Amino acid sequence: MNYPEYRPRRLRANASIRAMMCETRLSASDFIYPLFVKPGKGLRDEVSSMPGVYQVSLDKLEAEITELVELGILAVILFGLPENKDALGSEAYDDHGIVQEAIRTIKASHPDFYVITDVCLCEYTDHGHCGIVDENGAVLNDQTLELLAKEAVSHARAGADMVAPSDMMDGRVAALRTALDDTGFESVPIMAYSAKYASGYYGPFREAADSTPAFGDRRAYQMDPANGDEALREVALDIGEGCDVVIVKPALAYMDIIRRVKDEFGYPVVAYNVSGEYAMVKAAAAQGWIDEQRVVMETMTGFKRAGAQLIISYHAKDVARWLRG
Ligand code: PBG
Ligand code: ZN
Repeated sequence: MNYPEYRPRRLRANASIRAMMCETRLSASDFIYPLFVKPGKGLRDEVSSMPGVYQVSLDKLEAEITELVELGILAVILFGLPENKDALGSEAYDDHGIVQEAIRTIKASHPDFYVITDVCLCEYTDHGHCGIVDENGAVLNDQTLELLAKEAVSHARAGADMVAPSDMMDGRVAALRTALDDTGFESVPIMAYSAKYASGYYGPFREAADSTPAFGDRRAYQMDPANGDEALREVALDIGEGCDVVIVKPALAYMDIIRRVKDEFGYPVVAYNVSGEYAMVKAAAAQGWIDEQRVVMETMTGFKRAGAQLIISYHAKDVARWLRG
C-alpha cells in the first residue's frame, strides 16, 4: 500500500496512539550500574572526567546500593582499586582483596542485590596490562588464564552472583567455567566481554580505575574497530566455551555488532555504554549544547532497538530517575 492509501502519520497523530505504537520501552531493570570501590574510610570521590561517577570506600557502599534499590536498578558490576599493585596483579585473586570485601559488604546489607564482578588484571598489575607480561612486554595468554580463573573463583567464594571476564585472552571462558564448576560454583553465570574493541572511548574509565597501561596499548588482545566478522567468531568461541551472556563494548560505534550478534546467536546481548560515551554527553550537556535527558533516552532506546537485552551504563541512575518522571 502506498500514499495516498497508506499514510504513516495516521499512527503518529496524538500521544495516545504514539504510546500504543511504541515498539521499544526502557525500564530501570534494563540497567547494570558500574561501581568503583577503593580502600579507605568515608570516601566518595568524584571522577573528574566522569561527573556524577564516584569511587567509594566500603563504608559508603550500603548507601550506594540503597539508592540503586530505590531507583529500581537490580544489579551492579564492580571494579576495584587495590591497595597495592604488582607484576602479577595479586590483589585480584586475594580473598581479602577490595572487590571480594565489597561483595561481602553489599551482601551483608542487601543479600538479594545482584552483584556482578569485572574479572581482569589491569586494575591490579603495576604495568596496567590485562594479563601477565614477559620481559619484552608481551601479554602471555595461557599463563594469564590461570590467574583469571583464580580471580573468578575468589569472587564467587565472596558471594558474587555473576562474573564478567574483560581481559580478551583466548580461552578464558573455558578456563573460568572449569574452575567455577570444579569449586562448586556451577550455578554462577559468565557474562563474557566477547566483542571488546581496542577503543579510544575507554579514556575516562582508565582514570576512574587507574588502569592505563604503563607501556604500549591493548591492540594485541582487544579487537580492531574495523572488524565485524571477527566479533562473530569471538562470540562463537565464548558461547562454545560456555558463557551465558555476551557483551559488546563499546556500544555507540558498534550498534551493528549488537544486532548481528543478537540475530546470529539469539543469546542475551549486553551493550556496554562506556566511559567516553558518558563523558561526551556530560560535557556537551554542561555547555548547554544538548538536552541531556532527551539524548540519553534516545541512545539507550537505540541500544535496546539494536537488540541489547541489558545496558551497562554510568547513566543508569539518571535514566531510572527520568523514567520516574
Ligand atoms: C578492564 C575494563 C575496561 C573497561 C571495562 N573493563 C578498560 C580497558 O579495557 O581498558 C572500560 C569501561 C569503560 O570505558 O567504561 N579490562
Ligand atoms: Zn583489563
